Amino acid sequence: MSIRINKIERIEAQKNRLILINHSHQIPSDALSAEEAHYFHSRFNDENQLLVFNRYGYVVCVQYVKLENPVHIYHETLRRLGNSVLSSLQSYAVEQLQVEDRCEGNASLFLLEGMALGSYKFNKYKTKKTEKPSLKELDLFAHTIPNEHIQLLNIQVEATIWCRDLLNEPQLKINAITLTEEFQRMSELAGFDIEIFNKSKIESLKMGGLLGVNKGSVIPPTFSIMTWKPTNAINDKPIIFVGKGVVFDTGGLNLKTGDFMTQMHMDMGGAAAVATALFAIAKAKLPVYVMAMVPATDNRPGNEAITPNDILVMHNGTTVEVLNTDAEGRLILADALSYAQNYNPQLVIDLATLTGAAARAIGKYGIVAMRNSTADLLPLALSGDQVYERLVEFPMWNEYDELIKSEVADLKNIGGAEAGAITAGKFLEHFVDYPWIHLDIAGPAMLSADDSYRTKGGPGVGTRLLFNFILNLANQNQ
Ligand code: BES
Ligand code: MN
Ligand code: ZN
Repeated sequence: MSIRINKIERIEAQKNRLILINHSHQIPSDALSAEEAHYFHSRFNDENQLLVFNRYGYVVCVQYVKLENPVHIYHETLRRLGNSVLSSLQSYAVEQLQVEDRCEGNASLFLLEGMALGSYKFNKYKTKKTEKPSLKELDLFAHTIPNEHIQLLNIQVEATIWCRDLLNEPQLKINAITLTEEFQRMSELAGFDIEIFNKSKIESLKMGGLLGVNKGSVIPPTFSIMTWKPTNAINDKPIIFVGKGVVFDTGGLNLKTGDFMTQMHMDMGGAAAVATALFAIAKAKLPVYVMAMVPATDNRPGNEAITPNDILVMHNGTTVEVLNTDAEGRLILADALSYAQNYNPQLVIDLATLTGAAARAIGKYGIVAMRNSTADLLPLALSGDQVYERLVEFPMWNEYDELIKSEVADLKNIGGAEAGAITAGKFLEHFVDYPWIHLDIAGPAMLSADDSYRTKGGPGVGTRLLFNFILNLANQNQ
């Protein structure tokens, strides 16, 4: 369950209250006693700081935040402060908090986002609940913030938390079939359409990549197509999101060794992101025609598993020599990308936990982005800054094509030791014939420790990015 943010019309006395300010004079006169005000001013040092006054039964807190440029950095500071306020208030067993925004702009929205996302814990499998009372209700008192903004924030938080849950659930719970059941629930709750292809339909479509990766599995593959096409859509051709849905990546016969297999239940992070983003878009009834496609399977070394040197015939007829069964993501994505062509898309964005090389190149701090020449990366990169899931563009130079040429087939599924994130993107480029952006989220999608409000395990990368991108599009067209 995610926290809901409610708007309140007045501050109730003798209840927890947090006052957010950019200047010391913004503290409302009724908030602090003379002694407390004196203490505040004596401590004030122009650094972002939280002062907590314990009124024994409730707390009154003042969070001072310095204005900062550029604005997206300021907003991220606010999210992180939101999370640190949470930790500071933990010892006071705060379950309900009134947030009073005295700042310029919409500062509290970002603080609340950090609080709501930071309060998430994946603890449903703990049979002994040892947790202290935690935040359950956030009430916002801010005259200048329209209700619509609060609704959008609630939707964004709910979708991100659903994305996290999907990632954190183990593969026993989320497999290629049960993943589609989650998508079905989303479609019912948000009102988008969904079509799910089973194995025989996938066979009839000759999706050799998805079927090939699935051969070592007991559970059949699925291919989900989700559509949000409102009558007031601003676009005729859809924007399509494609998400890698490997529900567990053992590596296949090229079995992952050592510790490399742990966390691979999160190899469907792209799938979870695209579906929950569509959930948010539909729930917010944004006037944009958007689709999400998810090829899903696990990657296992079962009896019939594909082997190195196998040759797969892909959905679009391209032949691929498999040289490493652990480079499976590109095989299932390639089929989805060529299938997307049927819809004559305006733009396709794929999200995938695709390569360890992307994670090694930029760490958890950003997303590796690549695009073909007909796609504009700027609007998405702007969203990346706004939600602080920043994009770093990698090149699509022709020279890299040499690295994935096969002796016996059209392509091979791995390049050399170098430029691994790029050769994976170059592989996918062979399956697209429309404006296309590829996002390799392997770095930020799986965290071994909390990073402020990005909670450990799956922090839910991509949901906010795609939702923000479509929201901006909708707003520009008004
Ligand atoms: N799912 C992995 C990529 C990955 C690694 C994501 C670590 C997140 C964290 C992908 O399927 C994979 O195994 N990639 C291989 C490709 C190689 C065999 C060319 C890799 O990156 O090692
Ligand atoms: Mn793999
Ligand atoms: Zn994988």
